Amino acid sequence: MTSQRKDDHVRLAVEQQRGLSGGNQFDEVSFLHHALAGIDRPDVSLAVSFAGVSWPVPLYINAMTGGSEKTGVINRDLAIAARETGVPLASGSMSAYFRDPSCAGTFSVLREENPDGFVVANVNATASVDKARRAVDLLRADALQIHLNVVQETVMPEGDRSFSAWAPQIATIAAAVDVPVIVKEVGFGMSRETVLLLRELGVRAVDVSGRGGTDFARIENGRREFAEYAYLHGWGQSTAACLLDAQQVDLPVLASGGVRHPLDVARSLALGAHGVGVSGGFLRTLLEGGVSALIGQITVWLDQLAALQTMLGARTPTDLSHCDLVISGELRSFCDDRGIDTRLLAQRSRAVGSSPELAGTAR
Ligand code: FNR
Repeated sequence: MTSQRKDDHVRLAVEQQRGLSGGNQFDEVSFLHHALAGIDRPDVSLAVSFAGVSWPVPLYINAMTGGSEKTGVINRDLAIAARETGVPLASGSMSAYFRDPSCAGTFSVLREENPDGFVVANVNATASVDKARRAVDLLRADALQIHLNVVQETVMPEGDRSFSAWAPQIATIAAAVDVPVIVKEVGFGMSRETVLLLRELGVRAVDVSGRGGTDFARIENGRREFAEYAYLHGWGQSTAACLLDAQQVDLPVLASGGVRHPLDVARSLALGAHGVGVSGGFLRTLLEGGVSALIGQITVWLDQLAALQTMLGARTPTDLSHCDLVISGELRSFCDDRGIDTRLLAQRSRAVGSSPELAGTAR
């Protein structure tokens, strides 16, 4: 059952990528253009650190799969792409491994092919401490993701219907494992209130994983005979909205959900993310073009991200968080409703210097 579901997810997620309209709420985030902000490319670094971890680049391959023969091959290729480009890489949910340890190899290949990379294990919020530790051990993981997927479970015919134990279990796991715990959504986003609660529960970082790309309400509906929950398609907050909402919370935030190109990566970093994850888009590239196409895509994205930082005067990814941003459309209404002052965002480079270039050096 689980392995069939994993194969269904891959098939439906790639079909969904092909059908995406091209637009999402990242389009309502614009960098204010400062014509003399540019710096020199050799002065630009892509390295980031947060929650006690250091990454060479602020881009990662986010959680997807494992648990079936086909997805084991996908994980092997994702691991090769991560190894060749230096991006961190997360496993899909390891529940299948707990149910059937004979599929361990479809997950452990992530580490075998990528011995020196940053690898993240992934469990659900009901996992026992023992299972969380087994997941980390199998991958010799550098961090543990716990996923929140209440909408997906609701639409999934065989999904869970009890969610109240999730928060205390997250606190238990976070206190017990030896690696940083990152709690992530799966494409419906996180509110400021959720992020604040997760900070209290002891997690080290969150990945808001918002609306705009892979939509698991749609995927699970695609597995139902009559798509009874079609009205839940598009549920949740966009990734840009979540990043804006979480800006004042003192907890490192990662971004994923609907990241389409290097400008969305730069926008996410400018909105406060420390790293930016991609799932569905990279999966599509891999399945349509093979591992060399995915390596090529990631290499181009990293090169272009450095080019954008050069243009915008940001020596580091973190410096992007001092660039002026203009928020428009529905995202602006969201900010009004949630008490987020968009005027401050559009003038923030002044707070640290007279230009973004100075802003980058002033701290
Ligand atoms: C996912 N995602 C996911 N997340 C997770 O925490 N555990 C999992 O097992 C999976 N499985 C999974 C399978 C497939 C095929 C896809 C495409 C995605 C969710 C993923 O990590 C991410 O949060 C969302 O997909 C949003 O990002 P994109 O796809 O819009 O870049």
